Amino acid sequence: MAANPFSLDGRVALVTGGNSGFGRAIAMAFRDAGAKVVVGARRADRNAEVVAALGADASAFELDVADEASVERTIAGIVQRYGRLDILVNNAGTVSRQSVMDLDLAVWDRVMNVNLTGAFLCTKHAARVMKTQGSGKIINISSVYGLIAPSKGLQVPYTVSKHGLIGLTKVNAVELAPLGIQVNAIAPGYHYTEMTEELRGSSLEAAAKRRIPSGRLGEADDLVGTCLWLASRASDSVIGVCVPVDGGYMASDGLDRG
Ligand SMILES: NC(=O)c1ccc[n+]([C@@H]2O[C@H](COP(=O)([O-])OP(=O)(O)OC[C@H]3O[C@@H](n4cnc5c(N)ncnc54)[C@H](OP(=O)(O)O)[C@@H]3O)[C@@H](O)[C@H]2O)c1
Repeated sequence: MAANPFSLDGRVALVTGGNSGFGRAIAMAFRDAGAKVVVGARRADRNAEVVAALGADASAFELDVADEASVERTIAGIVQRYGRLDILVNNAGTVSRQSVMDLDLAVWDRVMNVNLTGAFLCTKHAARVMKTQGSGKIINISSVYGLIAPSKGLQVPYTVSKHGLIGLTKVNAVELAPLGIQVNAIAPGYHYTEMTEELRGSSLEAAAKRRIPSGRLGEADDLVGTCLWLASRASDSVIGVCVPVDGGYMASDGLDRG
C-alpha cells in the first residue's frame, strides 16, 4: 500500500465528461496522482485531445451516459484493457433554462437522462466490477442546485436531477459500503467552464460574486483536491456525504444586508 494516503498509484479511473471543464481537470489530477485515466464522453475529437495530453496509460471511449449499451461497452472495454476499474466519477452533465410552464418533455427527459439516469447506469455497471474486486470509489458531481434552487427558478430538470443525484449517492452508498465501495458526492458552486461560459461579464456573474462569501467564482481546478480525496484511501471512512465546493455559498443565507 502506498505510504501517501492520497496516492492513486495503479488505480484505474473512469471520468465521464472527462474531455472538458471539471472532468478534464479531474482527469489530469488523477493522472498526476498515479492513476490510469479513462475519459468517457461523446465527442471523439475532444476525447483524443485529452488523451494526448494525459499520456500513454490513458484512453478514451465514445460514451453516451444516457445509453445503457454505450455504458456497458465502455465498462467492458475498460476491464478488457486494464483488468479493473477502481474509480468512477459521474461528472457528465448538461443544463437547460426554461420556465416550468414552457418546458418541453423532451428537454426534461434529455437533462434527466444525462445528469441522473446516466449516473445510475454508470454506477450499475461499474459497481458490478468493483464488487468482484472488493473495493471502489464512486464520486457523483452534483451542484449547489442539488441542495437549493436557483433564484427565479428556470433550471427545472437540472435542479431536480442534481437533487436526485444526492439521493442516488446516499442509497448507493448504503448498499455498496459493505462491498468495500464508497459512494460520495460533490456540490460545486459557480465555476468558469464551458457550461457557464455566458456568465463572464454578465449581471449574474456580478450577483454571484456578491453572494459568494469568497467573492470569487471558481476555476475547474478548484474541484480536484476534493475529488482526489474522495477517490483515494484518505476517504475510506467517508460514505454517503455531499461536500460543497462553493466558496462558502451554502454556508451563507445570502441576504444583502448593505
Ligand atoms: N461549471 C459549474 O459552475 C458547475 C457547477 C455545479 C455543477 N457542475 C457540474 O459539473 C459537471 C461538469 O460540468 P462542466 O462545468 O465541466 O461543463 P462542460 O465543460 O460543459 O462539460 C460537460 C461534459 O459532459 C459531457 N457530456 C455531456 N453529455 C454527455 C453524455 N450524454 N454522455 C457523456 N458525456 C456527456 C461533455 O462531453 P461531450 O459533449 O463530448 O459528451 C463534457 O465533457 C456537470 O455535471 C455540471 O452539472 C458544474
